[in-house]
Amino acid sequence: MAKKPASIVECREDAFRKIFKFYKRRTPPPDFSDVVDFSKSTTSDKVVPVKMDPDAVSDCDAARVGLLPTRDWRAFNLQGYPGFIFISNPFLRGSQAFWVRQCLKTYPQKPNVCNLDMHMSPTDTQDIWAKSVRNLSRPVGKREPKTLLERLRWVTLGYHYNWNSKTYSANHYTPFPTELRLLSHQIAAACGFPGFSAEAGILNYYRSDSSLGIHVDESELDHSRPLLSFSFGQSAIFLLGGTQRQDPPTAMYMHSGDLMVMSGQSRLLYHAVPRIVPAPQEVACSWVSDQQGGAGVEQQVSSEDWAVCSKYIHSSRINVTVRQVLGPGQSFPETPLPDGQQTEGKRRRCGYSPEHT
Ligand code: OGA
Ligand code: MN
Repeated sequence: MAKKPASIVECREDAFRKIFKFYKRRTPPPDFSDVVDFSKSTTSDKVVPVKMDPDAVSDCDAARVGLLPTRDWRAFNLQGYPGFIFISNPFLRGSQAFWVRQCLKTYPQKPNVCNLDMHMSPTDTQDIWAKSVRNLSRPVGKREPKTLLERLRWVTLGYHYNWNSKTYSANHYTPFPTELRLLSHQIAAACGFPGFSAEAGILNYYRSDSSLGIHVDESELDHSRPLLSFSFGQSAIFLLGGTQRQDPPTAMYMHSGDLMVMSGQSRLLYHAVPRIVPAPQEVACSWVSDQQGGAGVEQQVSSEDWAVCSKYIHSSRINVTVRQVLGPGQSFPETPLPDGQQTEGKRRRCGYSPEHT
């Protein structure tokens, strides 16, 4: 086959990047009218409602982790992306408070790993929450420039992702949080993956000016298992591309409480977050009462904790991705790659945690 002229190759190569830059642009602000919004009951030929397996999760088990009965979930497929499932906020009213508190107060604690550990001593990153809250309550003039919570960018759970070698390893593992394992297990089961085992988690913390570069999540050793993604706080523009870096992506909103499941042919697609956008009014309003009145997981969140969490999510976004690293009976290669050495295949942007402009 004849080689394509360089100009055509370049043009194709730029398709994802061009759309990424379009949505990242500040002035003039981009036109968002092409962004798919699953929270709206729009009839689009691209968005196909999908029913969850009604017997996979009992209502009682779902409620235990703050989820609505699976028959009430609003779940969708996207034309052209087999294996991609978008679930529009399946959380019970009020229960997001619990998950936000876990992401801000519990998961950054040791033995989990966070970005602050890279350049601070273990004693200095010992209790990020307590140190931050203490500082927040100080008179304005006596505060440090930024609290540790405000400087938090990522946390890893379970098999801790090594950002340099882009690998997980058997010898860097700490117990995966039980309740997040349970939540993930139920979501995967409802989507047709009953044997899913949550083994690694990456939490990303975004400010209003953060973005996440174009990448594929391929470091897990078994790609037949889905990747789950949860979003809390401010909304994001999420771009879902193809198997080639240059394939043009589809833009969609990810609002607070929304879930994505990347499985099957969509497990290894390029994706990115070019922009954080303000949560719609009705979403932000629902946080005001998130901690009151219910009888579920949100009852575990004290009003003091919720005051801090609620303030945080009014200007930031938290994304949690949960991954199964190993297939059944699979183990890590005998000789792990030396630190800093990259795996074969597509290279992802170094680090791939959110960037701030
Ligand atoms: C990731 C990721 C997307 C998001 O952490 O790998 O793609 O919505 N996150 O923040
Ligand atoms: Mn990703």
